[in-house]
Amino acid sequence: MLKTPTTIFLGLATSFTFLLISPPPPKSFYHSLYISTSLSDNTSISHHLHTLTRRPHVAGSEANAEAAAYVLSIFTSSNIKSHIASYEVSLTYPSSRSLTLIPPPPETPTTFNLRQEIYDGDPYADVADEVQPTFHAYAKSGTVSGLVVYVNYGRIVDYLTLKEMGVNISGTIVLARYGEIYRGNIVKNAYEEGAIGALLYTDRKDYGGGGGDTRWFPDEKWMPPSGVQVGTVYNGIGDPTTPGWASTGDCERLSEEEVEKGGDVPLIPSLPISGADGETILRSVGGDVAHEDWQGSIDAPTYRVGPGPGIINLSYTGNQIIGTIQNVIGIIEGAEEPDRFIILGNHRDAWTFGAVDPNSGTAALLEVAERLGKLQKKGWKPRRTIVLCNWDAEEYGLVGSTEWVEENREMLASRAVAYLNVDCGVAGPVFHASATPQLDELLKRATQQVQDPENSSQTIYDSWVDSSNSPPIGRLGDGGSDFAAFVQHVGIPAAAMFFGGGYPVYHSMYDDFVWMEKFGDPMFHRHVADLWALKAR
Ligand SMILES: *[C@@H]1O[C@H](CO)[C@@H](O)[C@H](O)[C@H]1NC(C)=O
Ligand SMILES: *[C@@H]1O[C@H](CO)[C@@H](O)[C@H](O)[C@H]1NC(C)=O
Ligand SMILES: *[C@@H]1O[C@H](CO)[C@@H](O)[C@H](O)[C@H]1NC(C)=O
Ligand SMILES: *[C@@H]1O[C@H](CO)[C@@H](O)[C@H](O)[C@H]1NC(C)=O
Repeated sequence: MLKTPTTIFLGLATSFTFLLISPPPPKSFYHSLYISTSLSDNTSISHHLHTLTRRPHVAGSEANAEAAAYVLSIFTSSNIKSHIASYEVSLTYPSSRSLTLIPPPPETPTTFNLRQEIYDGDPYADVADEVQPTFHAYAKSGTVSGLVVYVNYGRIVDYLTLKEMGVNISGTIVLARYGEIYRGNIVKNAYEEGAIGALLYTDRKDYGGGGGDTRWFPDEKWMPPSGVQVGTVYNGIGDPTTPGWASTGDCERLSEEEVEKGGDVPLIPSLPISGADGETILRSVGGDVAHEDWQGSIDAPTYRVGPGPGIINLSYTGNQIIGTIQNVIGIIEGAEEPDRFIILGNHRDAWTFGAVDPNSGTAALLEVAERLGKLQKKGWKPRRTIVLCNWDAEEYGLVGSTEWVEENREMLASRAVAYLNVDCGVAGPVFHASATPQLDELLKRATQQVQDPENSSQTIYDSWVDSSNSPPIGRLGDGGSDFAAFVQHVGIPAAAMFFGGGYPVYHSMYDDFVWMEKFGDPMFHRHVADLWALKAR
């Protein structure tokens, strides 16, 4: 069913868009597309982003349903046949959290307030309360008390080092820093080593500039000391209560015990914490001095591994619900091969405001929809059917896209030609792309057609190629975003693209429009220049 691309597609002068169609359309077509996508056309895309990120919009919230309505309205007003595909899925929110450090006497216990601070002049201060309290989605509820052990990034190799140092993890609470592996694996590794709880913090070395910087967002791009990286700790994909089938209406569901037996949800409580709180806890950890590469920022205290003498009391209760999520689906029927689908996907739900993650991609998706709408008005029709998908509950574990794939598996297996994902569209100046190998050539050719937003005398391809003169194309073997169900459950060729290069406020309250305007994409040229390559044959 899969054909290798024989025609080139896409990417013209600018934007996310770009489908090329075979046979090639008349020159005037390119002209109109070019005009409609010139780099100065950054106003509407920044307007979309501003609208989408006015309020925090976690999956299952009223604000995210409103954002779905906005996406639907843009699709519909672009004359794209659209609908909302809803699912009833298992989601969790924090209902209570508490974290106390009991250092050795004479120091007295510290109970952390676990709040990300609002800064002076924050334009989003009035809706800051709508941000979920910091938590890990699908974390185990429970209360634990134990000595702290510092485990660096919480990788298996870090535990081997601790074993060599004679540190016994059993019965302890680990303090791990974020940054090298998926947070679900940090908690899983801790459990497997015998820990009874896990705290994951944002070290200044990795997210604060690392050089003793004393400035952070909103003055610099760095994570503020109170900033916390929220996120899921689920190791599977899709609704954990409906593995392999779609979460529709009154479908059958696994019980909590059955979900736990499946091995993809964590079995010990965990909390994400700020850099400042992590450092406070590290000051109460004695024992041997940690390796040099386990140390922090140049002005940080010396990190030791423990265990203790500091004791942590950690308590977390999650509120597990079945909530409604909305995928917005738009369809532009192909003129020649209407039963062959090119699918573009991006998620909409965000842990907080989501200016980078994921709504820079959503703004681009809306821009693509509007441009395709304008082209249709001029009489253009794609050769194949284009399906625009705006997913929900990606942050919980790729839930919206996976449920949709599970519901439509047979149709997709016979009709889908390619799936093209953009999650965080823009966080910085550096182009990155990953693909299944069938689409490598397509990506190269596409990026050779698009001007580098940082340098008008070269293409994205020119800035993307490395010293060996070939572009570093990643693969899609992991569960990093919504391509996973397409690639892993149905075997559809896929690609994922973004402009990155340093996004320290990832999953924190500071991922907002102000950060994007100041640091991610000050002119919104990267948003416009992002390309959503499509081949259409
Ligand atoms: C680690 O500690 C636990 C209990 O605290 C004990 O049962 C276990 O034998 C210890 N493991 C090693 C390798 O010392
Ligand atoms: C910490 O937890 C232990 C065990 O549950 C309890 O005895 C102790 O009072 C707690 N301490 C604080 C300061 O919460
Ligand atoms: C822009 O691209 C041209 C052509 O590749 C290159 O010679 C020049 O150094 C680049 N300018 C900057 C500022 O990177
Ligand atoms: C759009 O780009 C122009 C320069 O090409 C810049 O002056 C303007 O501020 C940008 N608009 C936005 C919304 O960033």
